[in-house]
Amino acid sequence: MTDDLARRARRILLANWRRGFTVPAQGLYPHQWSWDSAFIALGLRHLSAVRAQRELESLFGAQWADGRVPQIVFNPAVPADAYFPGPDFWGPGARHAETGLVTSGLVQPPVHALAAWEVHRADPVTSERRGFLRRLYPRLRRWHDYLLDRRDLGGSGLVCVIHPWESGLDNSPSWDEPLGRVLPVSAATFVRRDLGHTGAGERPTDLDYGRYVRLAADYRDAGFADTLGGAAFAVEDPLTNALLSAGETALAAMAGELGADPAPHHERAAALTSSLMDLLYDPGEGLFFARDAHTKSLLRKRTVGGLVPLIVPGLPVVEELLKTARGEHFRLGELSPIPSYDLTAPDFEPARYWRGPSWFNTGWLIWHGLRGQRHAQLAGRLRDGMLDAIRLAGFREYVDPLSGTGHGSDDFSWTAAVAIDLLEAPAAGGRAA
Ligand code: SER
Repeated sequence: MTDDLARRARRILLANWRRGFTVPAQGLYPHQWSWDSAFIALGLRHLSAVRAQRELESLFGAQWADGRVPQIVFNPAVPADAYFPGPDFWGPGARHAETGLVTSGLVQPPVHALAAWEVHRADPVTSERRGFLRRLYPRLRRWHDYLLDRRDLGGSGLVCVIHPWESGLDNSPSWDEPLGRVLPVSAATFVRRDLGHTGAGERPTDLDYGRYVRLAADYRDAGFADTLGGAAFAVEDPLTNALLSAGETALAAMAGELGADPAPHHERAAALTSSLMDLLYDPGEGLFFARDAHTKSLLRKRTVGGLVPLIVPGLPVVEELLKTARGEHFRLGELSPIPSYDLTAPDFEPARYWRGPSWFNTGWLIWHGLRGQRHAQLAGRLRDGMLDAIRLAGFREYVDPLSGTGHGSDDFSWTAAVAIDLLEAPAAGGRAA
């Protein structure tokens, strides 16, 4: 059974590999996506250290001169209209000077340092021989510098996402309020390619898309300048900032390995963690919330992003977060993977993208966090639950947390990668795989 699952997962990653990177899914996502590549590398490291390293290297090959790592690197071998918004939308301002590749001008959550460190640790000899860390570490630093220097739009010490696509949790209910202030572009002016691959009931609405297009076009037309005044949507998100803090801790480990000074990374991690605690944590709820950088108010929707700070080493509120995670809103340890949104909310939708379904990358982050915080038994239960969910539904993009029904794309790369990583992990407190 286990062997079969691992074999199927391997086959998906092989089929989705495109000379140097992996597509998230054939059809729906035919290019390279930033945070997908990081999760994919975590699985690939068990199959081929070189391939896992190349996955991250190809993404960072498209890094902009200002340090940003783009949300999407468009594959020139794929027709320009295969995905919307494609290379023609982003235009010459998003063309990479050296490679000529066109990218999106937006970014995605900074899970890369964490992934790069795990990829290195899986095979330090190959990593050393190829100079993987030595080449990637300065790029990862520039990426984090971009976020901390250019994206602290509110001056609070936390990084802002300026588009729902940047949060990774595209149509999360957390964004409804700030997104409601954005004038949508008419749906008649663009063609959504996503709906040709999966049902409209499993994707963001046309109204959401109209607002996504408006924000992306305005950012492009402003030359990708990062200012609070220019960003109609600017949100300090716990998932992004927790990943950045954990990523700085990973950079500290890399610095130590490379003979560089780890102290500045530890300092940045500590500063981010204390800002997360001061600004985004609600002790009454035992949960982190995103904060609107314009209104300075919390966006009080209970989402899985509010639990992701579990990955931050030394977080002072682990037990409080776990109490919330195990309660009625998320039912961690009882339902298989963890839902993306509050199960008790009146607007919970079990099949619609980030408004309810369980995803395996956020499940992996919670699992990784539980292991780091020494909650081995709960981590084992989550791991077993995720693998059972994949056995039941297949390697789907997301699943209904209550029924286990699969949704979105099939043969989804990060689901396969997470399965491989979970199968390789020593079973801690859970039953043997
Ligand atoms: N997740 C987005 C999409 O649905 C892009 O990053 O296309």
